Amino acid sequence: MTRMLLLPHIVDDELRVEAFKAVKKVCIHAYRYSKNDKQYAASVDKSYQNIKQLSAKLILDLKSRKIDRINLIDLKIFEDYIVSHNVNVGVLSFFIGLSMGLSTIELQRLGIAALLHDVGKMFIDPKVLNKAGKLTDEEHKLVNMHSSYSYRYIKESYHIHTSTYLGILYHHEKIVGTGYPKGKSGNDIPLHSRIISICDVLTPQPPTGLTGPL
Ligand SMILES: [Fe+2]
Repeated sequence: MTRMLLLPHIVDDELRVEAFKAVKKVCIHAYRYSKNDKQYAASVDKSYQNIKQLSAKLILDLKSRKIDRINLIDLKIFEDYIVSHNVNVGVLSFFIGLSMGLSTIELQRLGIAALLHDVGKMFIDPKVLNKAGKLTDEEHKLVNMHSSYSYRYIKESYHIHTSTYLGILYHHEKIVGTGYPKGKSGNDIPLHSRIISICDVLTPQPPTGLTGPL
């Protein structure tokens, strides 16, 4: 006989929508930055404050739920893949960090990195990013630039802790040293990057010509 297992939502639905809006704002700013549109700069600080407040709320929400297991189907997909992927990886990273017993400040640093890890995709031609067929070597290299773009944008735009922007930069490194951008391996890869990388694999990916997480 099959027993139905009901698992709780990871985070409150309203909070998820708030996260979606906050990350979307950062993505829009990153896009404008990539086009050298300096007008965006005035509201950059506000968008970062939104992300910080959101992280604090997500940590409180997760702590109050005392969840010890999750249903990955709960990581809902919104229409905007880049934004929803960042939100999903962010929520899952908070959950894993909490399960590991990270301090609140470390959770916040990890969570902000995870919520913003892929904003650098806004720098890449959407035709390449959304290409349905197999990518050429050149296109592949271009897509792989996104972690460096995310790092550069976040580091230059926000007054943020080193572990957050390094967590972003190295989120595609692999334990065996075959990742990018530096080919780091093992414990040389920051903890935040390793957590983000695991969450990257566990969450729904945008439909592209690439296989595996991006
Ligand atoms: Fe990525």
